[in-house]
Parts: sequence; C-alpha cells; structure tokens
Amino acid sequence: MASLSAERQSNYEMLRRLIAAKVSIVYVVSWEEERVLDTLRDVAAKAFASPVPFFTWSVTEGVSLEGVEDPETREPLAALDHVLSRKGSALYAFKDLHAHFGDARVVRRLRDIYQALKAVYKTIFLVGPRLVLPPDVEKDVAVVDFALPTLVEIDEIFHSVAVAFPKATIAMNDDERAEFLKSLAGLTADEVRSALTRLFMSRKQIDMGSSDLLQEEKRQIVRKSGILDFISSHVRYEELGGLENLKEWLKLREHYFSSEARNAGLPMPKGVLFTGISGCGKSLCVQAIAAAWHMPLLRLDMNLVFSGAAGTPEAALGTAVRTAESVAPSILWVDEIETAIVGTGRAGGGADTRIFSTFLTWMQEKKSFVFVAATANEIDALPPELLRKGRFDEIFFVDLPTLDERQEIFAVHLAKRGIDPRGLEILSLAQTTMGWSGAEIEQCVVSGIYEAYGQRRALDMSDLYKATSRMVPLSTTMAERIKQIKRWADTRAVKASRGGEP
Ligand SMILES: Nc1ncnc2c1ncn2[C@@H]1O[C@H](COP(=O)(O)OP(=O)(O)O)[C@@H](O)[C@H]1O
Ligand SMILES: [Mg+2]
Repeated sequence: MASLSAERQSNYEMLRRLIAAKVSIVYVVSWEEERVLDTLRDVAAKAFASPVPFFTWSVTEGVSLEGVEDPETREPLAALDHVLSRKGSALYAFKDLHAHFGDARVVRRLRDIYQALKAVYKTIFLVGPRLVLPPDVEKDVAVVDFALPTLVEIDEIFHSVAVAFPKATIAMNDDERAEFLKSLAGLTADEVRSALTRLFMSRKQIDMGSSDLLQEEKRQIVRKSGILDFISSHVRYEELGGLENLKEWLKLREHYFSSEARNAGLPMPKGVLFTGISGCGKSLCVQAIAAAWHMPLLRLDMNLVFSGAAGTPEAALGTAVRTAESVAPSILWVDEIETAIVGTGRAGGGADTRIFSTFLTWMQEKKSFVFVAATANEIDALPPELLRKGRFDEIFFVDLPTLDERQEIFAVHLAKRGIDPRGLEILSLAQTTMGWSGAEIEQCVVSGIYEAYGQRRALDMSDLYKATSRMVPLSTTMAERIKQIKRWADTRAVKASRGGEP
C-alpha cells in the first residue's frame, strides 16, 4: 500500500516541480477540471515556504481569486494582461482558453507570457480534456497528463458513496473488494462517483456481480470518445482452426492481468502483432483474445484518425489511447497498422511518421492495463522500430494453413452452419485446397451450401468439389508476393501454427 499512497502524491509532486522549475506555461490534459484545480489549490497553499496566490480564469467569471471575481478580465486578452502585469509570484489556471486560439492576439500574448514568466515564479496552467495548441506556441508549452484516481482514491470515493446509502449491504470480502475497485480503475473521479451512486441506487446489495453495471458504464465512455469501436466478441478458440502455437501462448497469458500476476511481479503485457497473409485469421485471432480474456475490445479506426474529423491525428490518437486507458483492462485493436505508416497519397508523410513514433513511445512506456493487438498485411512496410524487441511481447506470423489446419477450418465452418463434418471427406477436401486461406475455405463451404440449396437437397461432397474447382486462391495469383512475405517472416516472427506439411 505504501507505493499506492506515494503514487497518490504524484500529480501534486509533478505540478510542484514544474512551478519550482519556473516553467511559464503548462497544458494539463485532463477530463477532471475540478480535480486538477483542487490539486493546484493545494500546491499553491502548501508546497512552498509561503502560500502563493492562486487565480482561476474562465470566460464567464474572469480572473478570480478565492471566489472574488474580476468582471473586467472576462476577455481572454484582458486576463492574459493581468498575468503579465501583476507583480509577485502567482499561479493561474485558465479554463477552456483553447476556445480562443482562433484569435491571433491571444496566441501572440501567450508567446509574450512565455518570455516574461521565464525568470519569475509565476506559472499559467491551461486545463482542458484534449490537447489543443496552435502550432506557434507548441514549443513554449509543457504538456502534462493528469493521472487518474488511484485505487486508494477510488476506495475513498467508494467509502464516501457507501456512507450516503446506510441501508445497502456490501457483501464482499477484502480480496473481492480489491477486485471490484480495480474494475473502476481508469474512470475519472466524477465517473467513479456517478457510477457508484447509480449502483447503490439500483441495488440493495453490492457484491461482485455488480461489476456488470460498471462494464456498461465503460461502454458509454468508449462510445463518447467517437474514435474507438466497442466490439462485443464471442469468438471462441474452438472457432479458430489450427494456430496451435498461438493459442498456447495466449492461454498461458490469460491471467496476466490479475492482481496475483501483478503481485508476483510479472511484467505488464504490452501486446502482440499479427503479421501474415490476408484471410488467414489475424482479425479473428484478436477477437478470440478479447473473448477469452473477458476484456473490452476497442478497435481503433485509423482512417478516422487521419480524416481530421476527430481533431489533428495526434489529438485523435491521444484521445484513443486515453480512452483505452480509462476503461482498462482493455484490448486496443489496431487493425492493419501499416495504413498508419504507409499513408498512401496522404499529404505530409513526415507527420504520419511522427504520429506513429508517439504511439510507439506510449507503448514502450505504458503502465496501464491496455493490451495492444495489432495486425499487418503489408509487413515489409513496417518500420524497423516497430519490430524492435520490447515493443510487442511477440510478433506472430499467420501463414497459409497446413493440411491439418485446413481440415479443422473446414470442420469449423461446416459445423457453424449446422452441417456435421464427420459425414464428409474432410481430409480429401483439405488435400485439394493446398495453398488456400481460411477465408477462401469458408467461401468454398458457403458456395457449396448454395449449390446444394439451389437443388433443394442436403450438401454432399460434389457440391464442395465443384466449389473448389471454381476458385483460384490468392496464393496462386500472388505466388511471388506470398514468397516474399514468408521470407520476411522467417527471421522476424514466430509461427502461429505448429507446423506440419503445407
Ligand atoms: N484459422 C481460421 N479458422 C477459422 N476461420 C478462419 C481462419 N482463418 C480465416 N478464417 C475465416 O476467414 C475470415 C477472414 O479472416 P480474417 O481474420 O479477417 O483474416 P485476416 O485478418 O488475416 O485478413 C474469418 O472471419 C473466418 O471466417
Ligand atoms: Mg484482418
């Protein structure tokens, strides 16, 4: 517990250090404006030899000191002038100043402030949920993330809400309570409070079963972010034909996210990268992980990131990462990650690379329970830094299925459509379909079923043979390309399949 209370001090400490270092302008990225302001107020009152005056500003209140507002300073320019002209040390917190960045004078004044405050103990904090900065001042502003409530703080909130509902019974032992609190980790203090209040209002008894309700809360948060899709996956490992190496690897890590694993000092899993030939089950694997690990699956829409609809690509990616962290433990699914790098025809290729390296840095340093599952088809487009040891826990190569795997895939897709595979010569089908992908095998089963249905009779081998004879698999039309991919993967990735003849 000692480390947790230390962690609790971390926002306070971080802010104190910035002020002590005479940083002029700090951008605090947080959804929790009140919590940021409370912490700043605390720092101003206690962190230094004598208390430092703490001013807040908003467009409705103007500059305000301990509740006393100055209506003359409602205009952002007047407020910034207040910062410039006031003598002595002070701290300022500006709410939503970003709404005024369209005004060139505001931007100019910020730059003046940057110069003027360098030498004095005066710091201005810009507080907002997303990072919005005009390029002109980017270099002058220190950007920090405000950490979300720790388990100790969540426990305090739980306690304060529970006190308000004296009739409710709390049926959890200490371990269960710890697990329960963890399911709230990642929410802001306000979100924790409102989720718990809703829970206490709707239940007489609070127990482990109550965490379902919290899951729904998280779904809402993801939806609001607008950049991630919350995917409910029910894909079971049995629906995944072959890929035994991969399945074994995943099963070993099923409990990586439990508190026992943390206590045992196991390293935090970072994620996996699935590379390989298209249609061989990479996306399916990601869905199977989410279902097996009972974690929310959040698909990042790369095209949306680059479209500008969710702000600059940097801001959009930042929102995505923070949202994934806020509902952690979660799986962040970056499908076809190469689209982020190749950036075909997109303007400013340099920007793409920069965004990507921001993402890599986040992956490298992340301490949150976010497991990244990325897939890539165009593997030779991937930059070497992505493949460096330490980024992903493992890079898997998902190859065209082997003979045994093709039998399994046929069986999976027949069974899925209510056909007992035991009545069919699966081995023979697998032999005829050498070089076919899982997607192509599925396609073959589907067209066989249509064929039989067209003649109003049960599916038999002739339908399936007919379907196989009509299809030319990708591995034939793209033989050269597939050879290249295999050669690439030979030295860089672990095979997802156990092997065997092709
Ligand atoms: N190993 C497999 N087992 C069962 N079905 C598979 C397998 N590989 C591919 N499929 C089928 O093909 C479809 C497409 O696969 P997908 O995971 O999207 O391929 P990728 O992401 O590698 O391009 C899947 O939805 C599934 O129906
Ligand atoms: Mg895919």
